[in-house]
Amino acid sequence: MPRDFLKTHDWSAEELQALIESAVRIKTGKDRNQTLAGRSVALVFFNPSLRTRASMQVGIYELGGNAVVLEPGGTSWTLEHREGVVMDSGKTEHVAEFVRVLGRYCVAIGVRTFAALKNWEEERTDPILNAFAKYSEVPIINLESAMHHPCQGLADMMTIREKLGADRKKVLLTWAWHPKPLPMAVPNSFALAAAQMGHDLTIAHPKGYELDDELMKEIRRQAAGAGGRITISNDIDASFEDAEGVYAKSWGSKNFYGAPDKDIAEREQYRGKWIVDEAKMARTNDAIFMHCLPVRRNVIVTDGVIDSPASVVIDEAENRLHVQKAILKRLID
Ligand code: CP
Repeated sequence: MPRDFLKTHDWSAEELQALIESAVRIKTGKDRNQTLAGRSVALVFFNPSLRTRASMQVGIYELGGNAVVLEPGGTSWTLEHREGVVMDSGKTEHVAEFVRVLGRYCVAIGVRTFAALKNWEEERTDPILNAFAKYSEVPIINLESAMHHPCQGLADMMTIREKLGADRKKVLLTWAWHPKPLPMAVPNSFALAAAQMGHDLTIAHPKGYELDDELMKEIRRQAAGAGGRITISNDIDASFEDAEGVYAKSWGSKNFYGAPDKDIAEREQYRGKWIVDEAKMARTNDAIFMHCLPVRRNVIVTDGVIDSPASVVIDEAENRLHVQKAILKRLID
């Protein structure tokens, strides 16, 4: 069993299914075990959050525990993660001490550390998350890093199973226009988790917005192992054909890390075209509409779609609570 929850493919498909089954037992009230009674979990947020922060705090409380929320540079010291660095500039404390001290108080540490979208080659290695995992003596839970958002990916798979059933589904992950480049963690984790579950996955995006090459190899490897198919499409309208699940997300091009203005200029041609609307949803096989939230209405998705019965975004957000409790129980029990 992996010690940490950093990315879904550190865990086998069977282990992910077991986590979803545990989350269902928690959601339906069949499991009310107070696994964290008398124990504390640290939640470290370098970036803003609604769902992740609230669902982790509530989940820890409902498991009988206590959440210690820290914001480096805000409510705790600024943090250095690089090794061998002379700390004579802005950073006050090193991750090496930070996580080992927290580990003396807490039974697990969750961390959110987004991509800065400045240096693709560096950020694709998830340096801050991996520094936490390297030094920690207690399990680390990834609450969204530069490359992965595994709690979201697992909640997405639970939602597909809950709404559509446990067998293979035809799911679409579609890029959408957004006024500025965003990190790739959510699409990466959705695609990886869908491949691990054996779904037939179409990834639709304009040319130049490809996911990471190594990650795509892993997605294809997982799909081959689980019997699913991976299709890449640059045609947003055709990609909706017969889909049973539509997952919208915008992300920045890895070609423009460090040059956001170039990405913004490049994507302008897709404004109003790469959006999930009623006409595209009509091409699907009565698909559910999914998004991790927060979402910009009438930019990523029209009001007509997100307010329709096809939209499952609120249930999807609720499932974050249940899967995270299942992950905590699995790591701590
Ligand atoms: N989906 C998600 O992670 O939401 P927050 O950024 O609000 O935590």
